[in-house]
Amino acid sequence: MTQLSSAFGTYPAVRLRRNRADDWTRRLVAENSLSSDDLIWPIFLKEGSGKSEAVSSMPGQVRVSLNELTDHVGRAVELGIPAIALFPATPVEKKDSEGSEAVNPDNLMCSAARVLKSTYPALGLIGDVALDPYTDHGHDGVIRGGQVANDESIEVLARQAVIQAQAGIDTIAPSDMMDGRIGQIRAALDHAGLIDTRLMSYAAKYASGFYGPFRDALGSSGALKGDKRTYQMDPANSDEALREVALDLREGADMVMVKPGMPYLDIIQRVKTTFAVPTFAYQVSGEYSMIKGAIDHGWLDPDKVILEALMAFKRAGCSGILTYFAVEAAARLKRG
Ligand code: PBG
Repeated sequence: MTQLSSAFGTYPAVRLRRNRADDWTRRLVAENSLSSDDLIWPIFLKEGSGKSEAVSSMPGQVRVSLNELTDHVGRAVELGIPAIALFPATPVEKKDSEGSEAVNPDNLMCSAARVLKSTYPALGLIGDVALDPYTDHGHDGVIRGGQVANDESIEVLARQAVIQAQAGIDTIAPSDMMDGRIGQIRAALDHAGLIDTRLMSYAAKYASGFYGPFRDALGSSGALKGDKRTYQMDPANSDEALREVALDLREGADMVMVKPGMPYLDIIQRVKTTFAVPTFAYQVSGEYSMIKGAIDHGWLDPDKVILEALMAFKRAGCSGILTYFAVEAAARLKRG
């Protein structure tokens, strides 16, 4: 920094405010930009043919049934959003300790993928691979001897990935944090001839309190016994995130993700500068609800904070952001 400031001279010859003086200069010197191309919209699915249900801890977000899905997603397509991420709310009667519904080729996720692929062939579909929406204990894997069992879980996850890809999911996004799952899922996809199915790995996923509203949305919060600290990362760690990313890349991840987003911008920046690969952030449910809740109370100005928060991810080095604000942000960007 000392070197930089001497190279650039000082006040009064130097006045940084000059480049901020007019809108046209501000636009010319802007170092980053945000567009609808950067946004991925996460969507909650529900069974049956009923009306969409509001998610109370995430104002403005809904669980949508298959018969309303095409219209619901049409808004994102019109606004030029490249991809959506699907998450199923599984009825309790379909949950069991093994998460069997995850590998049913006619489950909600696969049915939604088939509907969407036939209606919007050019829209990217991202499928969450993990067992928590389907297990009665709410964990992302299967339990053996009181522990979430790594290797047995991966076998189920690999089958889950294959049936999702066969139903039309373009990008498998494993969010389970088992060791070695990227390599085994890649092998299973390749074995099934699905060599072009992409892998967006939740590489650095932290054991975070910011997932609370998401678990309400899927009805997995009541189910969850204990916490996920034996597989998701400790928020105290940063070097470990680089090891996670390195392993996932070596195992075949095409894109990596850091999650949550805003409290972990430092991790995003380290991942991007270290590996120079497509890096994504998930602005998770709790981040959405904090911002949205404050907006709804009149404490924050939506015209300012929604795009500012998303721009921060671009500045940190993200290629794109999974955000519940995707549609609202794309509409704002279009209005200019
Ligand atoms: C499940 C999963 C979670 C999220 C995405 N996939 C929750 C969890 O790990 O408990 C969180 C997303 C959000 O909070 O918006 N494996």
